[in-house]
Amino acid sequence: MKDAAPQTIYLSDYTPPAFLVDSVHLTFRLDPEKTRVISKVDFRPNPQAKSRAFSLHGEGPALQWARIDGRDVTPEITETGLTCEVPDAPFTWEAEVEINPAANTALEGLYTSNGMYCTQCEAEGFRRITYYPDRPDVMAPFTVRIEGSDPVLLSNGNPLNSGPGWAEWHDPWPKPAYLFALVAGDLRAHEGSFTTRSGHEVALNVWVRPDDIGKCAFAMESLKKSMQWDEDKYGREYDLDVFNIVAVDDFNMGAMENKGLNIFNSSVVLASPETSTDATFERIEAIIAHEYFHNWTGNRITCRDWFQLCLKEGLTVFRDAQFTADMRSAPVKRIGDVIDLRARQFREDSGPLAHPVRPDSFVEINNFYTATVYEKGAEVIGMLKTLVGDEAYFRALDLYFDRHDGQACTIEDWLKVFEDATGRDLSQFKRWYSQAGTPRLSVEEEFADGTYTLTFEQHTPPTPGQPDKAPQVIPIAVGLLGPNGDEVQPTTVLEMTQARQSFTFDGLGARPVPSILRGFSAPVTVTRDSSTNERAFLLAHDTDPFNRWEAGRDLARETLMRMAQHGGAPDRGYLDALAAVLRDDTLDPAFRALALRQPGQDDIARALHEAGHTPDPEAIFHAADRFGAALAEHLKDTLHALYTAMDVPGPYRPDADDAGRRDLQNAALALKTRLDGGAAARTQFAAAGNMTQQLGALSSLMAQGLGDAENTAFAEQWHDDRLVMDRWFALQVAHARLEEAPKTAAQMTARSDFNLKNPNRFRAVFGALAGNAGGFHAASGAGYELLADWLIRLDPINPQTTARMCAAFQTWPRYDADRQARIKAALHRIQNAPSLSRDTAEMVARILGD
Ligand code: PHE
Ligand code: ZN
Repeated sequence: MKDAAPQTIYLSDYTPPAFLVDSVHLTFRLDPEKTRVISKVDFRPNPQAKSRAFSLHGEGPALQWARIDGRDVTPEITETGLTCEVPDAPFTWEAEVEINPAANTALEGLYTSNGMYCTQCEAEGFRRITYYPDRPDVMAPFTVRIEGSDPVLLSNGNPLNSGPGWAEWHDPWPKPAYLFALVAGDLRAHEGSFTTRSGHEVALNVWVRPDDIGKCAFAMESLKKSMQWDEDKYGREYDLDVFNIVAVDDFNMGAMENKGLNIFNSSVVLASPETSTDATFERIEAIIAHEYFHNWTGNRITCRDWFQLCLKEGLTVFRDAQFTADMRSAPVKRIGDVIDLRARQFREDSGPLAHPVRPDSFVEINNFYTATVYEKGAEVIGMLKTLVGDEAYFRALDLYFDRHDGQACTIEDWLKVFEDATGRDLSQFKRWYSQAGTPRLSVEEEFADGTYTLTFEQHTPPTPGQPDKAPQVIPIAVGLLGPNGDEVQPTTVLEMTQARQSFTFDGLGARPVPSILRGFSAPVTVTRDSSTNERAFLLAHDTDPFNRWEAGRDLARETLMRMAQHGGAPDRGYLDALAAVLRDDTLDPAFRALALRQPGQDDIARALHEAGHTPDPEAIFHAADRFGAALAEHLKDTLHALYTAMDVPGPYRPDADDAGRRDLQNAALALKTRLDGGAAARTQFAAAGNMTQQLGALSSLMAQGLGDAENTAFAEQWHDDRLVMDRWFALQVAHARLEEAPKTAAQMTARSDFNLKNPNRFRAVFGALAGNAGGFHAASGAGYELLADWLIRLDPINPQTTARMCAAFQTWPRYDADRQARIKAALHRIQNAPSLSRDTAEMVARILGD
């Protein structure tokens, strides 16, 4: 199918649907190459609509016949759908189409993956299955009959009936088509059950291929915890008799919240101690929770249109973060999220792809499943909660569920609920949804006669299409510490609303040390001149764990920026303060591991660019290497002691405490390996009883150019396990130095187990290349060229993954003229590829600023 001429869609053009749907009946006659889909849809004119023109979306289904109220009709078919004359009254539409799931490599609509059938309909995949009003504000109950030879036939809702070769499902909850799902295959269920607080028993299943049945227990436990938590914390109960989760190997994203039938990338369901790291266990728990929480925030209350994506995603990310904070350590979760936000969202916000949390136009909605919509969207909700307080937040949420259950809503509806629940005017706050860019907050301070004054100035740099920004509401959580480290002012939230604004604190005996933006209370960049001593003081004394970590992070970042530009070494003040933190046994090991972790090289490049310099990726790479060497040397004794002290006794458990100890142990090992020639890492590799230790040892070795034997042994041991091999592929490229990285990536693509059609494998190689800042930006330009070559190859197969991976090029404006020219040449080459997809064309054009 050729894509239609790219059209820009605008939020301001929204019009209500001409017809609403009262019910949908679908019959699937499954066949790998010739699946038939018969639909029967009851339509009724929408009293709210301005037009009576009837049209259905459809891209690719071959229409066999269509009837209205039992009479044959001949609709007019276009590249994007069909139109037809219809009565000005309720009517029944029936149609039969043929589709080819086996040929569907885009993984949108109905496709096959390793012999099983599966669907992905968000955002606009349902139109590849049949003709239908594929827009989220058209909601209807679905009844589905599946006919096929597979033993397991699943769809949304509750099972109605089944027999040999068929099954029927009914989903009573009106839903948009993007939440439709169907799965058929030779699957096994790991079963469980959950009784809701009103006594309803829900059957739970995690469906996997027979070989994977031993790797489902953790996902099942995570699901039960999520169900319990949503009842306890938000008062939300599950609403069907069954909840099914299916693991699929070929999937463009992490997972999908289809009503009652969540479909997951197998990488975020399957877990065992031998094959999964602690980080993977944590990720699985969080994603199971995320998709489950969508049942209310996304499914029961959905989005009016795709511009409102953050309505469900920002809120659901915020909810899953609260869940993880409750299940594990809240400060550790917060620090991890901020690391991720800066690496992905700040990066997006500072380049050509910057867009508001609620964009106002798009060409391909799949290109807007971004860190801005998801993670900044969650930050905006966090700020709202900070501003109104916990009690009002939950009151507003109750009102939201009450008022909007069963509806397709907007950000206006969401904010109105908060205004009505609190009496606040949120019109200025709303700018967080419409203004792109990360605000910069500069701080001045003054102390006289016991009064301390903090003056903040906010400024948001221009972003594409938005040269000027108005001041935003910024909740700034601040605490003050006295000279001896005592807290003289506990955390208080300053509400900044103006471009420049001062806040005073009276009655202080001495000039305090401020702890600003505690808990990262707003997604902004703080710039403030302060001494190394003061940062070291906060690293030692701040009572806010986030800012304690942040003080060390600031020092590390500034040190790396200086070393990348002028050479030199980390200063003693920082090293001593860090050593003290590492030795402090009262601190959570996971926190200490975070303190030991260096800022990423891409973060340093961004910081240099924002400070007006041109980052040199090679210089940053060497600075990071010398920084690591200096840490290892200075912390030598501490590392040895830590490494032994962090041994975890007893059987493997993936909980936060044990995982934190292993994380700190691996962080210590990475540095130790710089000193001992790899002896400790080899021992750990040989004795490893779980993947966290095995991979930790291997990556410590590879980071120092060691471990060839271990690397080979690892690949031999795991060659049959796709998910572990994804890790192995990524590791090869992640640890290749500078110009070696594109060479290694090219070698990986030449292996017989490299598979262009599997997004996980493609991302393992090219995600690792893009994430290896020194290697991707290697001076020869080989990294850019290789990625462009493979994106050109992938685009006809899988436009969605191609377009997402183009984002690797988004940082071009930071770099020197030579690199800029090479990146642009790579982008132009992609742009000129024959029949480039709409997805990729939009991304490349936006990156180039066309
Ligand atoms: N809605 C899914 C989620 O939140 C993400 C997704 C988007 C998955 C589009 C597939 C396709 O997690
Ligand atoms: Zn989501």
